[in-house]
Amino acid sequence: MMMRLAVAGLFFMVLGSVGLAQETAPLQDPNDVFWAHAPFEMGECGICHVANDPAAPGELIAEVNDLCFSCHEIFADMLAEFANVHSPVEDSCTSCHNPHNSRREKLLNLDTINLCNECHDDIVSVATNSPVRHDPVTEGRACLNCHDVHASNVEAMLTGLPFDLCVDCHSDDEMTDESGRPMTNLKSLLADSHMQHGPVDNKDCSACHATHGGENFRMLVSDYPAKFYASYDPDNYELCFGCHETDVFASPENANLTGFRDGDRNLHYLHVNKDRRGRTCRACHEVHAAPQTHMIRDGVPYGSSNWVLQINYTGTEDGGSCAKTCHPTKPYSRRGS
Ligand code: HEC
Ligand code: HEC
Ligand code: HEC
Ligand code: HEC
Ligand code: HEC
Ligand code: HEC
Ligand code: HEC
Ligand code: HEC
Ligand code: HEC
Repeated sequence: MMMRLAVAGLFFMVLGSVGLAQETAPLQDPNDVFWAHAPFEMGECGICHVANDPAAPGELIAEVNDLCFSCHEIFADMLAEFANVHSPVEDSCTSCHNPHNSRREKLLNLDTINLCNECHDDIVSVATNSPVRHDPVTEGRACLNCHDVHASNVEAMLTGLPFDLCVDCHSDDEMTDESGRPMTNLKSLLADSHMQHGPVDNKDCSACHATHGGENFRMLVSDYPAKFYASYDPDNYELCFGCHETDVFASPENANLTGFRDGDRNLHYLHVNKDRRGRTCRACHEVHAAPQTHMIRDGVPYGSSNWVLQINYTGTEDGGSCAKTCHPTKPYSRRGS
């Protein structure tokens, strides 16, 4: 043991002038390593280099990956069998691993975020600099909370189906956002709901959320008002209007664009389209899944105390009604009342 360390130490001194302080240099300062690779630790340079002489090991005897596969066969199988292989893994294991030793576990050159940042600085920048950030992307196992790093059978090298990853983590009643506000337990909401929103039913959380972080409220891919009331501007509802008709909210009279009307009186317009204090969609609709038809919610958290305002909606064949909460009980009928 002492001997081997001394040999490696000699190497370090000889090569010290060519930038060995770098974290990614092939030979690390032996006094500063945490994880050593067994064949190197044994002093057996000749397993991978032309000479077994630590003082002059010379060239490699084969392509880097072929060297690695000779002992880590499972990786050769993985590359052959998995649907998605990470391209640097195909190129060279040493893009990320030091073949000799390292200051980090698993012979890694850098810690996870910095490692990924070498080639995915766009995503790492979004993850760390966005106004709205997502903790699992940068904390704990960070990127590896959702991604495999070598290969995977799922799209985008995910460790599981994206919907399952999201819902399995968002399955706790005690979860809060960055400002401490309680967040929906998606798992139980989905289990308890009579209907799921189209894109949720398609298991596509990314239709609306930018997983790695973003500019908008709740990491939404486009604008949606953050509060219960908002002055009406179609741009504020870019998210919903990416898939639903803007015209529905544009005029007070409306004979056929929406089911939410009393005769021709457009009740969507009436509630939503106001210069000040227009009600946002969340006043009446759930966005992920709901206990009843039309994604109408049972109640809506109101004000900063999160007190729940019950809506008590009942649908009928040609309309519906809300029990007295926001206003006295008011039915609507498309045939006119
Ligand atoms: C498991 C295979 C393996 C073993 C064992 C191994 N090396 Fe290496 N070595 C490599 C690989 C692969 C590289 C190329 C690193 C890269 O691609 O960045 C390398 C590069 C080097 C370099 C840098 C060469 C250059 O041109 O930059 C030196 C010096 C070196 N090894 C010394 C040693 C010594 C000394 C030993 C024995 C104590 C040893 N290696 C054992 C795989 C190995
Ligand atoms: C001569 C056989 C041999 C060769 C060649 C070899 N390894 Fe290893 N490797 C081992 C052994 C033995 C271990 C330690 C046992 C273990 O943890 O599986 C190990 C461990 C590792 C680990 C750490 C795994 C852990 O959980 O701690 C990594 C990463 C690794 N090797 C990468 C490489 C890379 C990259 C190459 C090619 C440059 C390579 N190995 C070539 C034998 C080899
Ligand atoms: C893009 C960076 C990257 C490349 C390229 C890469 N690895 Fe890894 N490897 C990692 C990371 C990160 C981990 C730690 C995974 C974890 O903690 O779950 C790891 C872990 C390992 C381990 C430990 C056991 C395991 O599966 O977790 C071995 C062995 C290993 N890699 C071998 C290889 C071999 C062999 C290659 C080339 C065929 C390779 N790696 C290419 C990043 C990489
Ligand atoms: C040495 C460069 C390099 C490093 C380091 C690296 N990647 Fe990659 N990665 C690539 C390249 C090249 C591609 C393929 C081109 C592309 O789609 O952008 C890719 C693709 C991906 C993909 C998309 C795969 C797909 O099927 O769409 C994911 C996810 C990914 N990398 C995650 C990571 C994570 C997580 C890390 C850090 C643990 C990491 N990468 C480190 C170079 C790298
Ligand atoms: C919470 C789960 C999760 C975490 C953590 C995560 N990702 Fe992703 N990533 C995804 C999903 C889901 C996709 C599929 C496309 C999408 O929804 O953006 C993806 C796609 C990618 C892609 C390929 C497509 C693209 O957008 O270019 C890369 C590269 C990537 N992620 C890198 C990273 C890196 C680097 C980290 C760590 C800084 C990371 N991811 C952390 C879930 C995650
Ligand atoms: C490993 C656990 C984990 C996974 C996987 C995960 N999340 Fe999260 N998510 C959290 C935690 C913890 C928070 C609260 C802290 C925060 O806001 O970042 C959160 C917050 C959020 C927020 C609110 C952000 C805000 O601050 O307004 C959204 C939206 C979200 N996640 C969506 C998703 C989606 C979509 C996926 C799947 C692609 C996903 N999450 C996967 C743990 C996870
Ligand atoms: C149709 C667009 C859309 C889809 C698809 C979608 N979300 Fe959301 N999500 C939103 C909107 C809008 C909000 C803000 C709700 C509000 O504040 O009224 C939100 C809020 C959240 C929050 C913040 C906490 C909370 O209780 O409001 C989390 C976590 C979340 N979504 C996770 C997910 C997950 C996981 C999926 C996939 C199962 C998903 N979302 C699919 C639009 C969507
Ligand atoms: C990615 C596309 C997409 C986005 C974004 C989207 N929706 Fe939907 N929505 C659908 C699909 C698909 C359906 C189911 C088919 C249908 O009934 O139109 C649906 C149905 C609905 C329904 C139920 C209609 C009914 O009568 O059953 C409501 C309410 C609704 N969406 C509200 C919203 C709100 C509010 C937003 C913005 C926060 C939004 N949607 C964003 C695609 C989307
Ligand atoms: C005051 C409550 C209320 C508000 C606010 C509200 N809706 Fe509705 N919405 C309803 C009701 C009730 C229905 C069911 C109409 C019926 O009987 O078919 C409905 C139906 C829908 C439908 C199904 C198609 C249709 O028009 O009948 C969509 C899509 C929809 N709403 C989207 C939205 C969007 C997007 C917003 C925000 C811009 C919004 N709603 C705001 C109450 C509301």
